[in-house]
Amino acid sequence: MIESLAASESRVRVLYSADRVRDRVREMGLVLARDYDGLRPILVGVLKGACAFHADLARAIPIELELDFVSVSSYGTETVSSGAAHILGDLRSEIAGRHVVLCEAVVDSGRSVSMLLERLGARRPASLKVATLLDKTPCREVEVSLDYVGWTVGAEFVVGYGLDAAERYRNLPYVGVLEEARDS
Ligand code: IMP
Ligand code: MG
Repeated sequence: MIESLAASESRVRVLYSADRVRDRVREMGLVLARDYDGLRPILVGVLKGACAFHADLARAIPIELELDFVSVSSYGTETVSSGAAHILGDLRSEIAGRHVVLCEAVVDSGRSVSMLLERLGARRPASLKVATLLDKTPCREVEVSLDYVGWTVGAEFVVGYGLDAAERYRNLPYVGVLEEARDS
């Protein structure tokens, strides 16, 4: 087990260490706390990728809030964006009249977030904003406005801190870049 995890990690280059992620998430949490104080927002984690970010961000926001989740179709085992996103698992909360913050780990083409904004927006929340740890701006295909961004990154495929490549690497405590194995 340990050997195979170590072997898989050898292809991952650290982009943001666990310490840097923790510090940035804390900063974001304080900004959200200021913006939502007294509003009892619902923090919606977009599964599965946002599992770590959602849990850490919620604990970094020292105000009253609620948690919920949505699950969105993903790329499967591909590392390039493909197909139309749809909701696989819906919220349990009624969001009409509520302040909702979608928590994503990474926004790539923008299709998932755009679809969620449209679908959840139709339920008439009082407000609907997006917090993402990573914004892969060069990959954007659908225009979306992101309200809280941890870091803007390039087009590289990132893993760890909840993000996967074919379900691997989600448990890495840092954000890394998946490097292609070389044949030579
Ligand atoms: P989008 O709909 O293309 O913006 O992609 C959003 C979803 O694709 C994210 O919630 C992730 O699950 C997945 N994704 C996009 N880019 C990456 C990446 O670099 N690493 C891991 N997952 C990614
Ligand atoms: Mg994935």
